[in-house]
Amino acid sequence: MTTFDTAEINACCADAYSHPAARFLLGESLHPGGLDLTADLAHRMRLSEDDHVLDAGCGPGATAIYLAEELGCRVTGVTLEAGAVTELDHRAEERGLADRITVIRGDISDIDLPQAGFDAAVAECVVSIFARKAEALARIHDALKPGARLGLTDVTVSGPLPEALQGIFAVAGCVGNAVSLEQYASLVEDAGFVVTECAPLPDIARDFLKGIRKKMMFAEIGAKLGKIPVSVESVKMAKGVLKETEELVNSGTLGYGMIVAERR
Ligand SMILES: C[S@@+](CC[C@H](N)C(=O)[O-])C[C@H]1O[C@@H](n2cnc3c(N)ncnc32)[C@H](O)[C@@H]1O
Repeated sequence: MTTFDTAEINACCADAYSHPAARFLLGESLHPGGLDLTADLAHRMRLSEDDHVLDAGCGPGATAIYLAEELGCRVTGVTLEAGAVTELDHRAEERGLADRITVIRGDISDIDLPQAGFDAAVAECVVSIFARKAEALARIHDALKPGARLGLTDVTVSGPLPEALQGIFAVAGCVGNAVSLEQYASLVEDAGFVVTECAPLPDIARDFLKGIRKKMMFAEIGAKLGKIPVSVESVKMAKGVLKETEELVNSGTLGYGMIVAERR
């Protein structure tokens, strides 16, 4: 299995998540379960208007907007894509949330964050991507106040992956570097948290792939009619990878899971 270093992964993420195809396939909220799962996570973390939340790997910020708008939280998002920073700044301004949302472009593992400055952190579909998960979780730990809550949802892998899911795009796509739910839990514990909830979410993974399959059908039709700038061949290839992914989800090798923890 090829391993990729942080610089390669970060460059691929910055490109892949800025691509219109990623937004078309994933929607506004770039993780399985969408904002419904975010709302559930926020509820379990007991987030409120008193909390300043670090959103690690916030992307274009659907979660940041939700937490600020619906729950009144102050949110600091960190992400790799320049475009996502501009987009989130713009959306926050437009919705009158600019005083509650700050977004920083950078790698969560080495940007300057205040020590013990946050009441909570969310990491939705991002820890799976990190090459150095322990260092990144330690960084998030140090940015949190003692007793602060961490909410993580992510892709889980418990078995070998086929070659098609081991490349750099699979890593950026949260699969190639993902680990099992138990491994996330022990990484979180080792970083200085106490895990209070740890739940597999198999239906979320299945529903997510159903949604992608539907969109792929539209993409195939669009490509055949020449309505979208994507070749029929590449849609076919993507459908092949999707089929392999669906089989892995059905066999339980791939899944999605949630962890809630408290900083010691
Ligand atoms: C699957 S998307 C999830 C985005 C967002 N959390 C959501 O759920 O809508 C992963 C995001 O994490 C960002 N990311 C990946 N590695 C990162 C790192 N080391 N530091 C900061 N952001 C990172 C990517 O650029 C991308 O925006």
